[in-house]
Amino acid sequence: MAITYELIKTCKQTGARLGRVHTPHGSFETPMFMPVGTLATVKTMSPEELERMGAQIILSNTYHLWLRPGEDIVEEAGGLHKFMNWDGSILTDSGGFQVFSLSDLRQIEEEGVHFRNHISGEKLFLSPEKAMHIQNSLGADIMMAFDECPPYPADHDYMKKSVERTSRWAERCLEGHNRSNEQGLFGIVQGGEYEDLRRQSAQDLTSLDFPGYAIGGLSVGEPKDVMNRVLDFTTPLLPDEKPRYLMGVGSPDSLIDGSIRGIDMFDCVLPTRIARNGTCMTSDGRLVVRNAKFARDFRPIDENCDCHTCRNYSRAYIRHLVKSSETFGFRLTTYHNLYFLLKLMRQVREAIREDRLGDFREEFFEQYGFNKP
Ligand code: GUN
Ligand code: ZN
Repeated sequence: MAITYELIKTCKQTGARLGRVHTPHGSFETPMFMPVGTLATVKTMSPEELERMGAQIILSNTYHLWLRPGEDIVEEAGGLHKFMNWDGSILTDSGGFQVFSLSDLRQIEEEGVHFRNHISGEKLFLSPEKAMHIQNSLGADIMMAFDECPPYPADHDYMKKSVERTSRWAERCLEGHNRSNEQGLFGIVQGGEYEDLRRQSAQDLTSLDFPGYAIGGLSVGEPKDVMNRVLDFTTPLLPDEKPRYLMGVGSPDSLIDGSIRGIDMFDCVLPTRIARNGTCMTSDGRLVVRNAKFARDFRPIDENCDCHTCRNYSRAYIRHLVKSSETFGFRLTTYHNLYFLLKLMRQVREAIREDRLGDFREEFFEQYGFNKP
C-alpha cells in the first residue's frame, strides 16, 4: 500500500487527531495544510523556500497539467517530483472540481464530462479512466478520484443522482488506476448539505476500501455553520485508520474547526492568492499591506511571526513593492502567508498533543478577531 496512516493520539478536549501519513516520498504530520502548486509551482516560491518554511506535502492539478505542458512531458521528465524538483510528498486533484469551476459549456454524461478548455476554447472530454491515466503519468504520491462537485445550493434530487454517479465513477477510478503500489488513490465523499446523501456517499466509497478519503463539495459558498454541521455528521462515517482530507479549505478558523472535527489534511489557494494582491494573514487578523497607513510603518507584517519575511522586511517596504507590482513583494507576502498557516498547523498539532486544542481555539479566535461583533 502506497499510503498508510498512523494515528498518534486524539485530543481529550476536542477529539482532534494527531497523526502521520506515510507516502513514497516520506511522511507528513497531520493535521497538515498543503500549499497549492496548480501548474507544478507554488506561485512565486521555489521548492527550496517551501522546504525552509516547513511544507511537507504540496498539491498540484491534473486539469492544468494535462492542458499544459501535457502529462506526457511530465512523465518523460521522470514524473512531477523530478520535473519540478520537489522531493517531498505531492497530491494531485483529479480535475473533477476544475472542470466544474473553470470550464464553460460542460455536459455531464455517465461516461464523463464534455467541456471547453478555459484558455483556448478547444473541446475536451474528461472521464474517470482519463483522470487516472493522467494522474498515473504525473506520478504524485496521492491521487484523487474523478468526482462531480455540485454547486451550492443544489436540490436533493439532483444531489442524489450526482452522488450515485460519483460512486460509479469512483469504482471506475479504482479499475483504471494502474500504479497502486506507488500511488495511493483517495475517494471523495459528496452529498452537499444532506445528511442522508453524505451517509450514502460515505457508505459507497468506504465499501471500495480506498487508502484515504476526502470530503468534497464544501467551501463552495455555503455559510460556515453549514460546513461545520456537515463535518459533524460526515467525519464519523469515515474509518479511523485512514486519513481524511477536507478539500479547498484554508482560512485559519476553518483549519482549526476542521481539525476539531477530525480532519487531517487541508488545501486552499487562499494564502497564496491573497498574498498576490497584498493581503497578509496575521495573528491579529488580515492586514492589507497596500493600505496608506503602512507607508511609514517600519514594523514587520506580523510582530509575532518569525518567518524570513518578518525577520527582514518592513510593512513600508513590502507596501512599496506590492504597489509597484514588483515580483519580490509578492514573494515576500506569499512566503509569510504560507509560513503563517504551516505554523498554525504546528500549533494545532502541539495543542492536540497536550489535550488543549479547545483552549487554543478560544485564544486564537480572540486575537484573530473572530469573536468580535
Ligand atoms: N476541491 C475543492 N472541492 C473539491 C471537490 O469537491 N472535488 C474535487 N475533486 N476537488 C475539490
Ligand atoms: Zn511572517
